[in-house]
Amino acid sequence: FFDGHTEIWLFGYGSLIWKADFAYIERRPAFITGWERRFWQGSHDHRGTLESPGRVATLIPAEGAVCHGMAYRITPEVLAPLDIREKNGYLREKVPLTFTDVSSETPEQSEGLIYLASEDNPAFLGDAPLDEIAQQIANAHGPSGPNRDYLVNLAKALRELGAKDAHIFALEQQLSRF
Ligand code: BEZ
Repeated sequence: FFDGHTEIWLFGYGSLIWKADFAYIERRPAFITGWERRFWQGSHDHRGTLESPGRVATLIPAEGAVCHGMAYRITPEVLAPLDIREKNGYLREKVPLTFTDVSSETPEQSEGLIYLASEDNPAFLGDAPLDEIAQQIANAHGPSGPNRDYLVNLAKALRELGAKDAHIFALEQQLSRF
């Protein structure tokens, strides 16, 4: 997928936005287009259990959509432990990234890498009514902590980025009811 030397930009749209436990050279806020963030991926090993799976973010193709996140410049060796951590059969895709920390007229772009779970991932859950998704998140706890913290941290990180994300903020609102 990559040769062993060239540095790449890994685009984080989930927990990677606020927590990167790998060595990176540089991190910059960025967005990708044509994808939207949805809490459609099940988590029975990080933010839930087999009996009570949690939900975490994945990316769904959506024409015209913009997804904000954090890009990390890394050497490809860093991907090996990530591939192990994300052992639930995540797909990798190359996407164009646009950095948002520049005020020049021509936005700076680069190629980026995303990991995502699609509907053929065994842990994929897909859509559900927003209040059911929020209820499931409120009830789930796993080795990485309460599922609630994942959503609250994500919403906070997106606010700090000044990013719009209607799905995430609506879910956060629903979560506060439980
Ligand atoms: C993320 O948090 O952005 C992420 C990283 C690797 C796989 C899936 C999501």
